[in-house]
Amino acid sequence: MLAIFPDTAALEATDLTLGGVSAAELAQEYGTPLVVLCEATLRARVRALREAVGDGRVYFGTKALPNVALLRLLREEGIGADVASAGELAYAKAAGLDGDELVVHGNNKDEAFLADAATIGAPVVLDAPDEARLAAAAGVSDVLVRVTLGVDADTHEAIRTGHHGSKFGLPPDQARALVADALDRDLNVVGVHVHVGSQLQDFDAQAETIVRLAAFVARCRDDLGWVAQVADLGGGFGIRHHPDDEVPDAGELARSAATTARLAFVEAGLPQPEVWLEPGRCLVGRAGVTLYRVGSVKRLPERTWVAVDGGMSDNPRPQLYDARYTALSATRADEPVDEVVSVAGMHCESGDVLIDDVALPSPRRGDLLAVPATGAYTLAMASNYNGVTRPAAVLVGDGVATVIRGRETIDDLLRHEIS
Ligand code: LLP
Repeated sequence: MLAIFPDTAALEATDLTLGGVSAAELAQEYGTPLVVLCEATLRARVRALREAVGDGRVYFGTKALPNVALLRLLREEGIGADVASAGELAYAKAAGLDGDELVVHGNNKDEAFLADAATIGAPVVLDAPDEARLAAAAGVSDVLVRVTLGVDADTHEAIRTGHHGSKFGLPPDQARALVADALDRDLNVVGVHVHVGSQLQDFDAQAETIVRLAAFVARCRDDLGWVAQVADLGGGFGIRHHPDDEVPDAGELARSAATTARLAFVEAGLPQPEVWLEPGRCLVGRAGVTLYRVGSVKRLPERTWVAVDGGMSDNPRPQLYDARYTALSATRADEPVDEVVSVAGMHCESGDVLIDDVALPSPRRGDLLAVPATGAYTLAMASNYNGVTRPAAVLVGDGVATVIRGRETIDDLLRHEIS
């Protein structure tokens, strides 16, 4: 079970510790639900990805967990950020990132966002037929073109992006026309971009995409006399959310992607590209654990419900992607797991189930549950459903906890109400 927790997770007598800090003390001090991020795990994952990409570049997919302190820490480790909205760009700016540490995304960027990108000097990934015109008008200098190469990744359909008919990027003919338009407008077209999907379980879809990408670039060279210097391969490397999941190590997947791209370009008679990657989930997912306090326990003939003080407002992934999580009793870790229960959220709908079945030491009110592999796309997608305030986040390392996002308050909820 600890294999899907952060690297520093340990069981000391009855208690789970993370980064040398007891989960019980964290919950006591900062309240629950609480997102705990392990600094050592974050740094180790970033280093593995950087090493995998060699002399290429790594940009964190900010959407996985937009947070200023986190972006700063990642920057210390030498990686930048992929931002997909004016808000994400604002987080990156607040963290001190410069234009050359950013990649700007979005399938529907507005003029203000493009102007922001131009001001900071960040490269923009063009994603729509008229976006070269908009980018040039906004004063953008460097661009990439996102191409959709018709590969169906083996992942949940809501997070598949590289198939024909996707709302992202453009199919090859239209993408080539966009490259031509951008060149006509004297934009510096530095490269091409693909993103196959998220939570990829293997390398198959990316491998096929990369081969098609090299063919696309070769065609642009033949037709337009233009060669991409950069191959931005997006993100998508999966993680294990449950001990039964089998997902290859992200570092290995990233290494395969970078190597395959270099080889495919050379085989297509092109110069080796500079490889860029945009991993989100695999950098922060495993570093994060969410702590919940158990409230009501209902033992029904059909099943036992253990309700926690959060749910779909802090982690909507079970509802959106059928995501399967597990939990550990963070304060009774020495006791036998003698009861299989369902963990319910506190929201007013039956679908608000965090975990369908998990074995725990017979749960009771006041227990503390730790749900691993929740660093990515949880807090990032949190909502105020049922007037619930969004959780705090703390970074732990070497026995010290630092709050990196404060808990929302009821006053925050009421701030925009007008009466
Ligand atoms: N680059 C682009 C252009 C993307 O669209 C994404 C994710 C990434 C990079 C980072 O992908 P990652 O390495 O994190 O898989 N909310 C969903 C995931 C949505 C992913 C959106 N795009 C979830 O919870 O599974």
